[in-house]
Amino acid sequence: MIKEILQNIEVSMKQLADINKALDETLIVAVTDRRGVITFVNQKFCEISKYSRDELLGQTHRIINSGYHPKEFFSDMWRTIGSGKVWRGEIRNRAKDGSYYWVDTTIVPCLDENGRPYQYVSFRIDITQRKLAEEHLRRMDRIEVAGQLASSIAHEIRNPLAAIQWSLRSLSDDPDERRRQVDLILSELERLDQTVGELLLLSRPRDAKFGQQDVRRLLDMVVTLMNIQARKHGVQIVADIAADLPEIRCEQNHLKQVFINLIKNAMEAMPNGGRIFVRAQRHGEDHVLIEVQDEGCGIPPEQLPKLGEPFFTTKEKGTGLGLMVCYKIIQDHKGKLTIQSEVDKGTTVQVLLPVA
Ligand SMILES: Nc1ncnc2c1ncn2[C@@H]1O[C@H](COP(=O)(O)OP(=O)(O)OP(=O)(O)O)[C@@H](O)[C@H]1O
Ligand SMILES: [Mg+2]
Repeated sequence: MIKEILQNIEVSMKQLADINKALDETLIVAVTDRRGVITFVNQKFCEISKYSRDELLGQTHRIINSGYHPKEFFSDMWRTIGSGKVWRGEIRNRAKDGSYYWVDTTIVPCLDENGRPYQYVSFRIDITQRKLAEEHLRRMDRIEVAGQLASSIAHEIRNPLAAIQWSLRSLSDDPDERRRQVDLILSELERLDQTVGELLLLSRPRDAKFGQQDVRRLLDMVVTLMNIQARKHGVQIVADIAADLPEIRCEQNHLKQVFINLIKNAMEAMPNGGRIFVRAQRHGEDHVLIEVQDEGCGIPPEQLPKLGEPFFTTKEKGTGLGLMVCYKIIQDHKGKLTIQSEVDKGTTVQVLLPVA
């Protein structure tokens, strides 16, 4: 009887040892006390971090911190495991030789009889290869987007160039006809200039000079500027800008360009006149919400996904770059741009910007 039990225990011990060995081969394991001081690491931990066991014991995980994750990332992790819950996430660490590695990490708190963690056991899997592959894909994606953009730009520039070339070749001797041709050439040149101007705005984020700015003043300037054109088109701009708006951090000229583009679109949507409402108010603790609303033709639902695509335009003289530039600039400001529209009712563009 006793012999049998002992035999069983031996088998179980052997099984445990096998499982332990298998885990040890695949998992990076560490144990820390409740303050995060490392009390145990397995061989894999030493291999991947390139530190010896002696160098690791008694340290905290700060020794392999890569500085990649924000403080909140780790304070969130500590809050979770400190309350006795399991935490899981992907962490970038820094090995002793300065190289980086990514680990999929699970941290399990061990609880005492009062339900309080007295130590933490962490299991990690090396996911560096997967992370590198993802990064590679993202970069390929960007190259592809750049390629697409380049080919549509080439197309967009070649059309007016062809028109100019053709007009110059066939300049008439008749003065009236000649004037008409020159006008055409000038208007094509103007369109080219506009396209190139908007593209430059996109390609020069390095020129950006960010500073604190009063939203109210910025919008006042834009509205004053656009009012001149608006009146000519029988359009009235109604501004409702809260007086106590906080300052935002922005590149003034770029942001002005956004609201000029939006008001221009609103104006062009109302060829027979109407009203444009420009509103600005605080949104929660740390955002400012700016709206440009028109009573124009609206946008059919099937066209909504196309907005912001380069060169998508329904206008004879449009470049189709206005909204794309807006999206890009708002993104650079860590803000959000959304468009709601109903055919024959009008369009509302909302811009959410973080306060300084
Ligand atoms: N307020 C709006 N009302 C109705 N349609 C709009 C509005 N804003 C944008 N659109 C639609 O989205 C398209 C793309 O706008 P976007 O500003 O990017 O280019 P565009 O106005 O055509 O040309 P550009 O701005 O270069 O003069 C427009 O052609 C139009 O069809
Ligand atoms: Mg436009």
